Amino acid sequence: MGQLVKIHVSVAQWRTKTASLAFFSFSCCAFVFLGWDLVIVKMATGTVPASFMELKIRDRGLGLTKSMDFVKVSNLQRVKFGRSKVFVIRNSSSGSDVAELQAASEGSPLLVPRQKYCESIHKTVRRKTRTVMVGNVAVGSEHPIRVQTMTTTDTKDVGATVEQVMRIADMGADIVRITVQGKREADACYEIKNSLVQKNYMIPLVADIHFAPSVAMRVAECFDKIRVNPGNFADRRAQFETLEYTEDDYQKELEHIEQVFSPLVEKCKKYGRAMRIGTNHGSLSDRIMSYYGDSPRGMVESAFEFARICRKLDYHNFLFSMKASNPVVMVQAYRLLVAEMNVQGWDYPLHLGVTEAGEGEDGRMKSAIGIGTLLQDGLGDTIRVSLTEPPEEEIDPCRRLANLGMRAAELQQGVAPFEEKHRRYFDFQRRTGQLPIQKEGEEVDYRGVLHRDGSVLMPVSLDQLKTPELLYKSLAAKLVVGMPFKDLATVDSILLRELPPADDSDARLALKRLIDISIGVITPLSEQLTKPLPNAMVLVNLKELSSGVYKLLPEGTRLALSVRGDEPYEDLEILKNVDATMLLHDLPYTEDKISRVHTARRLFEFLSENALDFPVIHHIQFPSSAHRDDLVIGAGSNAGALLVDGLGDGILLEAPDQDFDFLRNTSFNLLQGCRMRNTKTEYVSCPSCGRTLFDLQEISADIREKTSHLPGVSIAIMGCIVNGPGEMADADFGYVGGAPGKIDLYVGKTVVKRGIDMERATDALIQLIKDHGRWVDPPAEERAAAAQLNEGINFAIGSCLLKQSDKIIAS
Ligand SMILES: *[C@@H]1O[C@H](CO)[C@@H](O)[C@H](O)[C@H]1NC(C)=O
Ligand SMILES: *[C@@H]1O[C@H](CO)[C@@H](O)[C@H](O)[C@H]1NC(C)=O
Ligand code: SF4
Repeated sequence: MGQLVKIHVSVAQWRTKTASLAFFSFSCCAFVFLGWDLVIVKMATGTVPASFMELKIRDRGLGLTKSMDFVKVSNLQRVKFGRSKVFVIRNSSSGSDVAELQAASEGSPLLVPRQKYCESIHKTVRRKTRTVMVGNVAVGSEHPIRVQTMTTTDTKDVGATVEQVMRIADMGADIVRITVQGKREADACYEIKNSLVQKNYMIPLVADIHFAPSVAMRVAECFDKIRVNPGNFADRRAQFETLEYTEDDYQKELEHIEQVFSPLVEKCKKYGRAMRIGTNHGSLSDRIMSYYGDSPRGMVESAFEFARICRKLDYHNFLFSMKASNPVVMVQAYRLLVAEMNVQGWDYPLHLGVTEAGEGEDGRMKSAIGIGTLLQDGLGDTIRVSLTEPPEEEIDPCRRLANLGMRAAELQQGVAPFEEKHRRYFDFQRRTGQLPIQKEGEEVDYRGVLHRDGSVLMPVSLDQLKTPELLYKSLAAKLVVGMPFKDLATVDSILLRELPPADDSDARLALKRLIDISIGVITPLSEQLTKPLPNAMVLVNLKELSSGVYKLLPEGTRLALSVRGDEPYEDLEILKNVDATMLLHDLPYTEDKISRVHTARRLFEFLSENALDFPVIHHIQFPSSAHRDDLVIGAGSNAGALLVDGLGDGILLEAPDQDFDFLRNTSFNLLQGCRMRNTKTEYVSCPSCGRTLFDLQEISADIREKTSHLPGVSIAIMGCIVNGPGEMADADFGYVGGAPGKIDLYVGKTVVKRGIDMERATDALIQLIKDHGRWVDPPAEERAAAAQLNEGINFAIGSCLLKQSDKIIAS
C-alpha cells in the first residue's frame, strides 16, 4: 500500500455554513492537485463507517466528535476553490512548494506526510535534536532525558513554594515548573528565584503561563523558561461554538497572535530564556477548533503558528509538547508533530507528558503508555509524569521511565530490519484477532476464553487452587452460593505452569468450575502430557510445534502458541499451517539488545502480510521482586506501545512475588488506558498546581468512592478552568473549580451548573449523572451475579465497546 502521491496542494476540509463541529468528520474532502490548474481528483465523503453514524448522533450531547482528517503538511496558505477551502503547502525553509504525502493506509482518504515519524521502526534510535538550554540544563538528543514536575503550592506563598521546589530538587528533578497567573504571582517569582539561588538551588524554573502575555513578559526576566499554551496565550478560551472563520478572520487572528507573542520572543532571545510551546488537547483555540477539530492535526498546527513566529525572529531556544489525557491521542499527536517537523527540516526537542493522567496506578499507567511508547521510538528529551499526588512523588516514576528510554536508546534495542507496511502511525485502527469459535464435538464453551475488547490472562499457582473461593474472587468472578460466575472484569483465562496431581480431585474440581464458565485454563505441553486435565488449552512453543511432539495430544486440543517474534522467517512459516486459539508474544525480559516492542511489530507485520488472524496476547514475565512502578511502567511501555497502535488482543503478566490483585488490576488498567476495555469509571483528573481552587486529592477521592461502579462513564475533575472545559473533550461529566469554594459542573463541554457550593457539588454531580441516565445503583454482589446469569453483561460490554471505538476512531 501507501502509494506515494507527490502533490503541490493538499486536501482541504470543507464544511458548509450549517455543519456543526459534531459532524466535522462527515464533511467532504476535496482532493485537489495544483498544476497550476486546479483539478479535483477525488471527492470522498463519510470517512467514518456508517455504523458509527448513529452513535455519534446519539452521543451528540456528550462530548465532541473529533475530526480524523489529516490534511495539512506544512506551512499553509488557504485559497478558495469553489465552495471548498484548499490548503497550499509551502516549505518555508526550502521555498519549494512540494511535499510528499501518502494515504495513511491503503484506500484511506487520510493523507499524511511520507516523512518518517521516528528514526527507525525496528530499533530505538533517539531522534536528533538541537540542544535547548533551560538555565544551566541542556535538553536535547545529546543529553540525558530530563525529568521534571510542577509545584502545587500557591505561587504567592513564596516560603511554601521555595520549600516545595527544594524537595523536588532533592528528589532529583532536573527542572521545575511553577504556575504564574497574574502580576502578584509574577512578583513572587522574583523572590522565589532569589531565595532559591541564595540557598544554592540552581534548578531551572519554568513559568507556566495561560492567558497572560504581560505576566509572561515580566517573569521572563527572572525565570529560565516560559511555557506558553498556544491555545490561550493570545486568544480567548475556545467557546466551543460553531464558528465560521473567513480567510480574513483567520489571517487577522494570526496577525494578532504575532503582535502579542513577538515581544515575548524578543525578550526570551535577549535574556537567553527557553520556551516551551505546549499544546494541550484540552485547550485549543476556537480558530484551530473550527478548522481542525480537537484532533492531533489541530494540536500540531496550533503549535506551528507560534513556532513560525519564533523562527521569523530567529529564536530557536524552544521545544514542543502535545499533551492529551488520552494516551492514544497523545502518541498520535507527537508522531504527527515529528513527521511535520521532518517535512520542515526542524529539529526542536520534545517535552512529553500525558495530562490529567490521574491518581495512583491509573496515572502511572497512562503515563507509561503514552511516554513509554514514544521513548521507545526514540522520541522525547524531557518528560513529566503528572499525577494527582504531591509533586515530589512524580519524580521516581518519571526517573524510571526516563531510564527505560535511555537504556533502550543506548543499547539501540530492537530487532533485525524489516519492512513495515501494515502498522498505522497516525490513526488508530485495531487489528482484531479472530476470537475463538466453537468447534463441533467440543465439550466445553471456549468462546469466553478471550474477550473482544481485550483479554486479561493471569498466572495461577497450585497453592491458589487450595482455596477455590478465594481464587474465584481473585479472578474477579462473582460468587453465587460458592460458585463462580463471570462479570465485567473477570479474568478471561489463566496460565497454570503446574497441574495438580491427577488424584487431587478438589483442585481439579476447582479448575473444572472455571472451565465450565468459559475461563480458559492454559498449561504447558509437558504438564498436559503427564497429568492431562480435561479441556485444558496447551501452551507450546515453536520448537515443540515443529518437532511434532505436540501431536501426542488428543486431536482437537486447543493450542496457545508462544512466539518470541525475532525467529527467522523460516521458523515462523509454520504458523501458516497451524490451528491455534491464540499466540502469546513472549520475549524473555532478560534480553538486552532485543526489544519486545520491535519483535512484536515484526511479528504483527508477518501475521498481516500472511493474512493470519490469530489473537495475540502480550505475555511479559518480569524478574522476581521487580519494583511495583517498574512493573506498571514495563507493562505500559512494552505492551501499551503496541496496543495504542491497535496491535494485540490482551495481556498476560507474570511477576513472581507480586500481589495477585495488583497484577490483575495492572492488566485491566492497561487495557483501559489503551482505550480497549472499560471495566471501571474513567477519571480524568488534573495534577493540580498553584491555580487549583480546591483540595483536589480529597475531592477526587470522595468522587471516586461514590462513582467507581460506573464502567463506561468518564468523569473529569479539574482544579480550574484553564484546561477544564477542554478536557471535557474526553469526559462525559466534569467537576471544575470555577471560583474559590465554587464548582462548575459540565456535561460534555457544556457548563450546565455554575457556582455550586463545594459542599453540595458531589451530590449535584451524581444527580447530573442520574439526570442523563448514566447512573446505576451500586450493585449488591449476589444480585449482580444473578443478573449476569442472564444476558445483562453482554449488553453492558457491548455499549461500552461501541462507545470506545467511536471515541478512538473519532479522535
Ligand atoms: C523542506 O526544506 C528543508 C530545508 O531545506 C528540507 O530539509 C526538507 O526536506 C524540505 N521538505 C520537503 C518536503 O521538501
Ligand atoms: C484492585 O482494584 C480494586 C477495584 O478497583 C480495588 O478495590 C483494590 O484495592 C485494588 N487492589 C490492588 C492491590 O491494587
Ligand atoms: S487544570 Fe489543574 S493543573 Fe491545570 S492549570 Fe488548572 S489547576 Fe492547574
